[in-house]
Amino acid sequence: MANQEDNLFKNVISHAKEYGFIFPSSEIYDGLSAVYDYGQNGSELKNNIKEYWWKFMTLLHDNIVGIDAAIFMHPTIWKASGHVDAFNDPMLDNKDSKKRYRADQLVEGVIEKLEEKIEKEVEKAGKRFENFDRATFMATNPRVLEYQKKIKETKDRLKQTLADGDMVGLKQLIIDLEISDPISGTKNWTDVRQFNLMFSTEMGSIADDANKIYLRPETAQGIFVNFLNVQKTGRMKIPFGIAQIGKAFRNEIVARQFIFRMREFEQMEMQFFVKPGEEMKWYEFWKEKRMRWHQTLGMGAENYRFHDHLNLAHYANAACDIQFNFPMGFRELEGIHSRTDFDLKSHEKFSGKKLQYFDSEVNQNYIPYVVETSVGLDRMFLSILASSYTEEKLEDGSERIVLKIPAALAPNKVAILPLMKKDGLPEKAQEIMDLLKFDFRCFYEEKDAIGKRYRRQDAIGTPYCITIDHQTLQDNTVTIRDRDTMKQERVAISSVNSIIQDSVSMAELLKKI
Ligand code: GAP
Repeated sequence: MANQEDNLFKNVISHAKEYGFIFPSSEIYDGLSAVYDYGQNGSELKNNIKEYWWKFMTLLHDNIVGIDAAIFMHPTIWKASGHVDAFNDPMLDNKDSKKRYRADQLVEGVIEKLEEKIEKEVEKAGKRFENFDRATFMATNPRVLEYQKKIKETKDRLKQTLADGDMVGLKQLIIDLEISDPISGTKNWTDVRQFNLMFSTEMGSIADDANKIYLRPETAQGIFVNFLNVQKTGRMKIPFGIAQIGKAFRNEIVARQFIFRMREFEQMEMQFFVKPGEEMKWYEFWKEKRMRWHQTLGMGAENYRFHDHLNLAHYANAACDIQFNFPMGFRELEGIHSRTDFDLKSHEKFSGKKLQYFDSEVNQNYIPYVVETSVGLDRMFLSILASSYTEEKLEDGSERIVLKIPAALAPNKVAILPLMKKDGLPEKAQEIMDLLKFDFRCFYEEKDAIGKRYRRQDAIGTPYCITIDHQTLQDNTVTIRDRDTMKQERVAISSVNSIIQDSVSMAELLKKI
């Protein structure tokens, strides 16, 4: 991470703590690695992101319904899904620093560096030549060609060793690439070992292997095992979807970068059940829909891109990520996967129960294919927090930090601020609060100078501040201040509700998708 981005990320993290968005879990006991708690503002923002997703899925699509399955599930489910045998990451330790790494991520780091080198060559040449043509340069420059060759070779070897489960080959790749530990600087590596990411515990009072159950590593399986329950009781016709928001748990080897990679996190997943053979059509459909959902938030279309998967998971015949430009660069925000009939077929086999759909149009029973959209709620949160965090220098030389959170997602929609704590202003402010509180989450504050209070609201992303002053008592008007422009307008109290409503409404945001 470049220094500037590194600093920005650090500022975002400390801001999140200082203003009640995210706290390290169990902080008074020095925290718990890669586990975080959401504070008073964080949980509101998180709930609003959930609402934006849930309503998009279940209100805007009349063939999608939602469920809420339990976290604990029958252990055989994870055998059937392939997680017991294949949900592994290859890990190795550096013997000097005693730090643990994911072997594939070390190799991907080398690929990223080579890609950066190519971009630097392109940038240099672009400055040197007037009629610079990127494509021709990429196809002819010897240095770029050499880097590209190395990237391809490295990707191919990585893909092959992972597909074969060849941990010796993966270690050899690390040796051949001369990768050293960023902390100790040495190449003193242990062998690469497979590490299963599922957390397990025991159910009931007898702790033995027969009672071993897992904390779900994805919410999707709760949908698969309820596929027929929902289809039958909801009289759903294919194509249809089942949506779910819930916790997932992964014992990540390298859990860093704040809430980007956690051990306990939340997913918003939707499984879309389709006729076999039609899955690629729906895969493209959901790619486009999900991208629009993200971009409607207004955080810059250029900050999102698709990234096709190099190594398809055991269940997929097509897969891509929607990546977001996080402070540490473009990273996965959401996965879109064409999961074939792998899961339902496997659950049929392991459970001995039929999981088929009778399609009356073709008079046939079949196991549907599935297209899945899966977005991490915490990563969504981070994308919004990081891109809305703005440090501004104002005309009068002062500075402010403002969270330009999309208004419909902001924790509080309006702050109600009596100019003074006397002369009946607090009472009038309370009256206005009583008017607005049924429609919007309001924040009331009367302590400190008004400028200081505005700054505090900017820092938590409140789109509007309403100030009650002496004129309010005379003519029932207030000033309303816009968070982003800081412009203030004098308006009648009777018009405040509709002014706010227009820009903070979730329905209006959903209509733009
Ligand atoms: N059911 C498919 C599935 O779980 P995934 O790509 O492993 O696919 C989906 O995860 C999404 O869940 C990711 O795109 C990411 O946003 C989020 N996610 C995965 N692991 C995470 C972690 N350790 N911490 C936070 N979010 C995570």
